[in-house]
Amino acid sequence: MKSKILGMGHYVPEKVFTNDDMAKMFDTSDEWIQKRTGIKERRFVTESGVGASDLAVPAVKMACENADTDVSDIDAIIFATLSPDHIFPGSGCFLNQKLGLPGVPALDIRNQCSGFLYGLQIADAWIQAGMYKRVALVGAERHSAGLDFSDAGRDVAVLFGDGAAAAIVGPGDGTDTGSGVIDIEVHADGEGAKLLWIESPTCTEWEWLDQSMIDRRATYPAMNGKQVFRWATSKMPEALRSVLARNGYTIDDLDLLVPHQANRRINEFVAQKLQIDPNKVVHNIQKYGNTTAASIPLALSEAIQEGRAKEGDLVAFAAFGAGFTWGAGLYRI
Ligand code: UT7
Repeated sequence: MKSKILGMGHYVPEKVFTNDDMAKMFDTSDEWIQKRTGIKERRFVTESGVGASDLAVPAVKMACENADTDVSDIDAIIFATLSPDHIFPGSGCFLNQKLGLPGVPALDIRNQCSGFLYGLQIADAWIQAGMYKRVALVGAERHSAGLDFSDAGRDVAVLFGDGAAAAIVGPGDGTDTGSGVIDIEVHADGEGAKLLWIESPTCTEWEWLDQSMIDRRATYPAMNGKQVFRWATSKMPEALRSVLARNGYTIDDLDLLVPHQANRRINEFVAQKLQIDPNKVVHNIQKYGNTTAASIPLALSEAIQEGRAKEGDLVAFAAFGAGFTWGAGLYRI
């Protein structure tokens, strides 16, 4: 039986950091950030002791409410994040404890910006196999803890924001035409692994963190922006075309495209390449920046809340990010 999203929820920290706030910390400007990325502001957690699992709690509770499901009905957790609370155990275990779900399995996945698509593919397979009935699929990030807020890190620091979103995934209505996951494809190419990464701490050395790593700023994310841009604008259209064709749809059949929010220019480029009506593309990067694994579910949750994604709509997802990983999916609301 195919799976469907029974309810969605999201949560972002209250504290807004505008582009002008970023310009107070290092050499950048509102004009540069808006022109190159479309971002106007992002949310950052400012309290200590608050991790991705804490941001996930209100997102899951909202998703349960919208799914008309009790938190206690959740029978599996998939937690997608690149900014886990700790290196181990996974944030899914912390979330399990915070939601009061002892014994419920918790799987962390580390597929960065494609995390939601990888996670939805797993949740869909579990539901289809009859293993679980209420999977809490979470994407959550506290990027602010690991960004380089100095001139050296400005190319990356302006892009990211904190946030969480969740979907409760369960069995569909048993028909082929009803609401639910139609198809998802995901990919990876380690050729790009070091083009967007954090080098250290690393378990490839005798000491996984030493002073030299700190001194050369290897503990901060590093990115070859131009290469990432090039790959993203090639792989997202390719995956979208592939998933549409495999399922007998064309671009014109789409009601909405909910892409990963890495850069507004990337998504406009993808839409132009595929000749999708720009009004069908969901953007919220202006408010939140890139929230990585939370980005697609956050955009979808808002689109549903705002009535932009309506019952019966054919929605496509597309993602590209570190790994490199990428993918696309089709979903009937
Ligand atoms: O989820 C996936 C993660 N990431 C992405 O998808 C990002 C993909 N890449 C991008 O979005 C773009 O490459 C960026 C927005 C990161 C950069 O845009 P760009 O047009 O590729 O700029 P650039 O890296 O070529 O830099 C142009 C100039 C440079 O100065 P010079 O060498 O021309 O004097 C940079 O030093 O802009 C400078 N610059 C900045 N200036 C002000 C770089 N970062 C900043 C900044 N503020 N934050």
